[in-house]
Amino acid sequence: MKRPIAYIAGTGRAVPKQVVTNHDLEARGLETNDAWIVERTGIRQRYVAGEGESTRSLATEAARKAMAKAGVSAGEIDLIVVGTATPDRLLPSAACDIQAELGATRAGAFDVSAACTGFVYGCLVAEGMLATGTSETALVIGVEKLSSILNWDDRNTAILFGDGAGAAILRRSRGANAGKGILSTYLRSDGTLGELLWRPSGGAERPFGPDVLVDKSHFIHMAGREVFKHAVRSMAEATDRALDGAKLTASDIDLMIPHQANIRIIEATAKHAGISMDKVYVNVDAYGNTSAASVPIALDEAMQTGRLREGMTALLVAFGAGFTWGSMVVRF
Ligand code: ACO
Repeated sequence: MKRPIAYIAGTGRAVPKQVVTNHDLEARGLETNDAWIVERTGIRQRYVAGEGESTRSLATEAARKAMAKAGVSAGEIDLIVVGTATPDRLLPSAACDIQAELGATRAGAFDVSAACTGFVYGCLVAEGMLATGTSETALVIGVEKLSSILNWDDRNTAILFGDGAGAAILRRSRGANAGKGILSTYLRSDGTLGELLWRPSGGAERPFGPDVLVDKSHFIHMAGREVFKHAVRSMAEATDRALDGAKLTASDIDLMIPHQANIRIIEATAKHAGISMDKVYVNVDAYGNTSAASVPIALDEAMQTGRLREGMTALLVAFGAGFTWGSMVVRF
């Protein structure tokens, strides 16, 4: 089938009320400091969920905004795909929880587990289902409440992550919207490297038990330097493949929207792609790494602030636990 098949008709985002700065982390007794975090990661603050704020509530707020922008009612949505590593509960899916909140009773709903690449994976799945005619209008969400699985005493991880949600409505590229939409996609994973970034317990292999109080296996564990190297390599590959797939070059890209994990990873990816930093969307300073929510939050901000406008071409690229990585070129 000839692309574009699906276009992004509206986006939205939501974050918790509470802002936690690098200084706040230091004040809580974490052995770190603002200068180190800013220099090594680019992060200055992150949002952290408080009382009454959940994966479900953040995702629902972002989804409602995306639906309003797209002019889509809950009854029109026939597919909900949610990328998350932090559902409020493991059964049923976050997508079903969100469907219930929205009252999207006609929709099929499920989660994709691809960590920080979850939103990109979700868009690929939705595009495929739109292509087969299984769906007409899809809601794709990236959402995380990573604060719930962070060890706040571990400076390797506590400084990096934040909570939030981003959402997009995908519809068939037809009529006045025929030229708009996803021009290419690229999707990869490497499960042999899974334990470089993982949460050891909580699954069927190792259910939560009293051991977690000692071994902390219910928290995220990360080999930071290794993850960094793979992230740089994989995001570079993903940008190349998405451009090849769209038969475009770096000069055709108006805005790159990379996963916001670390400013040094973003800069290395842009340099490899030959895209100057003034064409790269960066908000890692304000949000930290919100995993699956990072790309759709950045996408929504870019649209709201006019950095991304109708007629422009964007390159979205992400990398995460699994390892998973993926990219897509989208015309708006
Ligand atoms: N504050 C102060 N000092 C610190 C901190 C901290 N928070 N963390 C480490 N250090 C110290 C180390 O102890 C070390 O000290 P030493 O030289 O005396 O031994 C020094 O700083 C350098 O440590 P490194 O681990 O080599 O620091 P690095 O430059 O690699 O930065 C970081 C660490 C920020 C974690 C980096 O490796 C990184 O960003 N990795 C990728 C992480 C990531 O993006 N993960 C998610 C991607 S996938 C997804 O989003 C799910």
